[in-house]
Amino acid sequence: MAEFMTGIKRSCYCGEPRLSDAGKTLTVCGWVQRQRDLGQLIFIDLRDRTGILQLAFDESTDEEVFQKAFSCRAEFVLAATGVLRERTSKNPELPTGDVELAVQQLRILAKSETPPFAIEEHSNVKTETRLKYRYLDLRRPDMQRILTARHRIAKCARDYFDENGFLEIETPDLVASTPEGARDYLVPSRMFPGEFFALPQSPQLYKQLLMVAGFDRYMQVARCFRDEDLRADRQPEFTQIDFEMSFVEQEDVIAIGEGFIQRAYKEVCGIDIPLPLPRLTWREAMDRFGSDKPDLRFGLELKDVSGCVQNTNFKVFSGALAGGGSVRGINAKGLAHKLSRKEIDKLGEWVKTYGAKGLAWTRLADKETSSFEKFLAPEEVKAIRETLNAEPGDVLFLVASEKDTVVFASLGALRKEIARRFDLIDTSKPCLLWVTDFPMFEYSEEENRWVAMHHPFTMPNPEDLDRLESDPGSVRSIAYDMVINGYEAGGGSIRIHDTQLQERMLEALGISPEQAQRRFGFLLDALKYGAPPHGGMAWGLERLVMVLLGVEDMRDVVAFPKVASSADLMSRAPSVVEPEQLDELGIAVKPKTDA
Ligand code: AMO
Repeated sequence: MAEFMTGIKRSCYCGEPRLSDAGKTLTVCGWVQRQRDLGQLIFIDLRDRTGILQLAFDESTDEEVFQKAFSCRAEFVLAATGVLRERTSKNPELPTGDVELAVQQLRILAKSETPPFAIEEHSNVKTETRLKYRYLDLRRPDMQRILTARHRIAKCARDYFDENGFLEIETPDLVASTPEGARDYLVPSRMFPGEFFALPQSPQLYKQLLMVAGFDRYMQVARCFRDEDLRADRQPEFTQIDFEMSFVEQEDVIAIGEGFIQRAYKEVCGIDIPLPLPRLTWREAMDRFGSDKPDLRFGLELKDVSGCVQNTNFKVFSGALAGGGSVRGINAKGLAHKLSRKEIDKLGEWVKTYGAKGLAWTRLADKETSSFEKFLAPEEVKAIRETLNAEPGDVLFLVASEKDTVVFASLGALRKEIARRFDLIDTSKPCLLWVTDFPMFEYSEEENRWVAMHHPFTMPNPEDLDRLESDPGSVRSIAYDMVINGYEAGGGSIRIHDTQLQERMLEALGISPEQAQRRFGFLLDALKYGAPPHGGMAWGLERLVMVLLGVEDMRDVVAFPKVASSADLMSRAPSVVEPEQLDELGIAVKPKTDA
């Protein structure tokens, strides 16, 4: 039978005692990392979230206590009281490695079945198993370290924004279904059968209403929900560090935003980030790196070679240009001997997943080979090589498409892939920047209309306003993203605070006044009652933890994450509910059809 804490109190954590504490009587509590039985001697490594302390049992130990220690197995929960003493054989690997606790009293607070995997740092266990037994997985020191850092970042945000005059105000989690963006998670209403709440994708509308309400500087560590297809850097529920401020322009928001990130890096990683952060316009980021979240820790910049092949007879290039697209390339410098012909062919197949029809290449090894130069005039070849700064030993990669988006997506991805494969990324320091001047709109082929790239409440650049209707594709917005090591860590914008402009924007987006009124009429109404100029931004807390700690899988920075199908392998959510629950909600479930 399990024992209790009656009459005893923990005096310190396992990771705390040092040689200077020798002679003190201490009580520690934790889990058995391992028990070693050497006959006359038993050692138990006791673990809690701060570290490990060695418990020692020997001939001086009371017989009953010795027998208890003998029965201990991995992951038993113990409370041990004893006198701290210097160890005879020290363990320099452990911060507590100079000392051990000579145990006088031992309580077995809980026994444990043999765990499905060892509770160790970096254990090589299948993700499914880890997530099914997440409470055991979370006992591992690396997971405890990550979640502790996550807490530190959120705490740092609350401190920083508080010190800068921001108030944390909670916005609702049961809201009306939102206008654009990802799919909503819906929550049926019992009082209004057939009607639904949505879980918020972000506090966007509410934080704008708080500005109208005069709160002036708002922040929130906010839960957000998006029913999108999952990727390694997305979870269906995640947390934003969200803020909004009134009577400001872009520079004010950027100053507050970079002040926070500087503080977070200092407090959590001890790294100094010089300010102001560098900036790239969206246009420049796309042209040079093929991405609106460029990783600047390596080169491999894109070059536009369209000008070199303007009059070419080579159909692949001339067709792309005639269709309004471009031909661009990168130079994989000095990699000719590392990239075999076979590997180049494989990369050619791989870029097709980004929409490219193919990858044109030139390999400048001892023998020069090329997939396309034979179709070009010598001066065209020369111009391309010059533009790409080609030298012996290089491999040149070109993509041509009628759609610039395809050229950027494929070369942007290829650039990252080559850097990753050949270890070209300088990981010695983080690389942060702002990307500004995003386009206001992007064209949705699916919906056959312009949609807002950030959201419909974002302020268009006043210089471009006259083209809002005539040439929406050319209108820039006052929107900015903070990019860290090639991740979009956060983003925001200055908002429209003028009713007429907001209405014009909705019209440009093809959202009818009736639709607008139905879905977010409350915001449009609020704008009529004196809205201050305002703007803000939000970081994904998970992404911040990932970049600050160098974690690659978002699931590792979430205590209880979802897998790609959005399911929780531990609780088995989502799950079927009782028929009575559905009745109460007025919901009938269609029988599943075979896919
Ligand atoms: P946005 O949609 O760009 O902006 O989101 C802000 C930041 O949230 C993070 N993020 C995610 N993190 C994990 N899983 C997801 N599925 C996910 N989706 C987004 C990203 C992103 O940069 N209301 C605006 C902000 C504003 O304008 O103030 C918004 O939500 O790090």
